Amino acid sequence: MSLVVCCSFTGAPGVTTTALGLALAWPRDVVLADCDRDPAQVIEAGYLRGVDLGGRGLAPLARAHRERRSLGDELPSQLVPLQENGSRVRRFLPGFAHPASATVFAPVWPEFAASLAGLSSQGTDVIVDAGRVGRDGLPAALLTEADLVLVVLRSTLRSLAAARLHLLTLSEQVAALAAPAELGILLIGPGMPYSEAEIGAHFGLPVIASISHNPHASVLTDGRPEPRRFGDGPLMRSYRTAAASLSSRLLRREAVLDAGTASDWARMTEPMAVPR
Ligand SMILES: Nc1ncnc2c1ncn2[C@@H]1O[C@H](COP(=O)(O)OP(=O)(O)OP(=O)(O)O)[C@@H](O)[C@H]1O
Ligand SMILES: [Mg+2]
Repeated sequence: MSLVVCCSFTGAPGVTTTALGLALAWPRDVVLADCDRDPAQVIEAGYLRGVDLGGRGLAPLARAHRERRSLGDELPSQLVPLQENGSRVRRFLPGFAHPASATVFAPVWPEFAASLAGLSSQGTDVIVDAGRVGRDGLPAALLTEADLVLVVLRSTLRSLAAARLHLLTLSEQVAALAAPAELGILLIGPGMPYSEAEIGAHFGLPVIASISHNPHASVLTDGRPEPRRFGDGPLMRSYRTAAASLSSRLLRREAVLDAGTASDWARMTEPMAVPR
């Protein structure tokens, strides 16, 4: 099973909303982990509408680490339901509860990331909202455990200009790993104005999935009331399509890696050249 890290560079393109939409549409059991080092508690206040989560999340895991308790044992008790009564088990790990918490979490990342990977080896996929990449990249331990790192971009010039400035930091960090995760783009609003093919060719990275641009995203982000047929509407359909294609891609990649090497997979998935 797989661990997917979602991140961005600047400008709030929609990482949290997309990670949540994917988790709600994921075709297997899934945990959505809020690992944004700049906490905003968007899911707690928005989609979960301020429900009391009993102080669960990364803070008790940091405490457990200080007390030398196993994070693998502790993690399941920190998860809260993301959706009741679904065909799949969808759970949420709340993030940091204080703006400075990420700084003191530095020694915890390796064991914490390994415990997320432990969930994925027990048959639950993990989607991480890693927030903005930052000047020094993402926590190395998260990248080490990742199978796929998705940079969330809009197709606007503003979003692409930021990617041009910051992508190198992340791609160098991923490339330096002993077993690099696949790095790709998740595009929100393809064709507004740039297309998937143009963006993929420009950055030399595959656009692995796209989500439609849709004002009803605020149902997920802000917990606004669902309009009629929201579940079957274009936004949720686009999360379902992306989730199905990402999860089957992850299974195919796992099979190729079991049989061969990361370069076999890279050759199979090179972005297509755009005719000029
Ligand atoms: N598919 C979409 N279509 C239209 N708007 C969207 C879409 N996805 C997210 N948004 C909107 O983009 C805004 C930012 O969303 P979100 O908080 O998820 O961004 P973020 O990248 O996580 O930001 P931050 O860097 O602050 O964590 C919200 O208003 C949200 O509703
Ligand atoms: Mg966010």
